This record gives sequence, structure tokens and C-alpha cells, in this order.
Amino acid sequence: MFMSIALALHVLAVVVWVGGMFFAHQALRPAAVDTLEPPLRLTLWVATFKRFFPWVWLCVIVILVTGLWMMTQFPKAIYIHSMMGLGIIMMLLFMHVFFAPYNKLKKAVASESWPEGGKALGQIRMFVGINTVIGIVTIIVATAGRYFI
Ligand code: HEM
Repeated sequence: MFMSIALALHVLAVVVWVGGMFFAHQALRPAAVDTLEPPLRLTLWVATFKRFFPWVWLCVIVILVTGLWMMTQFPKAIYIHSMMGLGIIMMLLFMHVFFAPYNKLKKAVASESWPEGGKALGQIRMFVGINTVIGIVTIIVATAGRYFI
């Protein structure tokens, strides 16, 4: 019973986090570049992150709590350790984005310093791109991993 709830919450949190990053990086980013000038585009991103990042914090907490609890119930296979290692890297990258470039982006937009804002947004884009790839690899390891590692 607890196992099914933990697994469902774990996977839901993964879907929200990785799916949200995929949408932001692959759909919203190119659409915003094509249609908006820097002042509007950077303002849109601050408004978007302001709504998305609290969800990511919640996802990180849910993934960690459910994942660590499930680990106490399972024989710890290599694919589970790999998932945990990749998951922790993803969480550290997210925290770096949140406390460094996102902070810079908010300050730049508040003071209308568009070139600095553009630089900070470029860093966020790079880290979100890396985290999307690690997220997809982690999902493959988590689901298919038991058959090959
Ligand atoms: C950071 C710490 C994490 C821990 C300790 C952890 C641990 C676990 C455990 C014990 C399971 C159950 C294993 C099983 O069903 O065989 C599981 C399932 C799963 N995890 Fe994680 N996980 C973590 C992070 C992540 C991340 C970051 C992702 C994806 C981005 C992820 C994706 C999944 C998926 C998709 C499943 C379902 C696998 C299935 O039932 O086929 N996990 N996790």
C-alpha cells in the first residue's frame, strides 16, 4: 500500500519536473526568442520561473523522501544507486540555478539591465538543458535499468 503511494508520487514528481524542463527548453524558449524582444522576453522568463520553481522544490522534496524511503524497502540494485546519484546531481544543478543565475536574472530585470539579464538567462538555459538530458537518462536507467545493470 505505502509502496504504491510512494512510487506513484515519485513518478508524478519526476513527470512534472522533467516534463516542465523539456517544455521550457524545447518549446517556450525558441518561441520566446522568435517573437519577443529582450525586455519582454526576460520579464516573461522571470514570471515563468516564479511559478515553476516552487513546483520544482516540491518535486525535489517528494522525489528525495519517496526515493529514500523506497530504498529502505528494496534490495539496492545498481540501477537504483545510479538513479540516486544522477538524481542528486540534478538537484544540485537546480539549486545552483535557483541561487545563482536566477537571482542575477531577477535583479537584472528589476533594474532593467537587459545585457546582464541575457547572460544570466543563457546560464539558466545551459543548466536546464543539461538537467533535461540527465533527467531523460535517469528515467531510462530507472525504468529499463533493471534489465541491463
Ligand atoms: C534522488 C534520489 C532518488 C532515489 C533514492 C530514488 C529511488 C527510487 C526507488 C527505490 C525506486 C523504486 C525502484 C523500482 O521500482 O524498481 C524508484 C523508482 C523510480 N524512479 Fe527514482 N529515485 C531517485 C531519483 C529519481 C529521479 C531524479 C528520477 C528521474 C528523473 C527517478 C525516476 C524514477 C522512475 C521513473 C521510477 C519508476 C521505475 C519503475 O517502477 O519502473 N528517480 N526510485
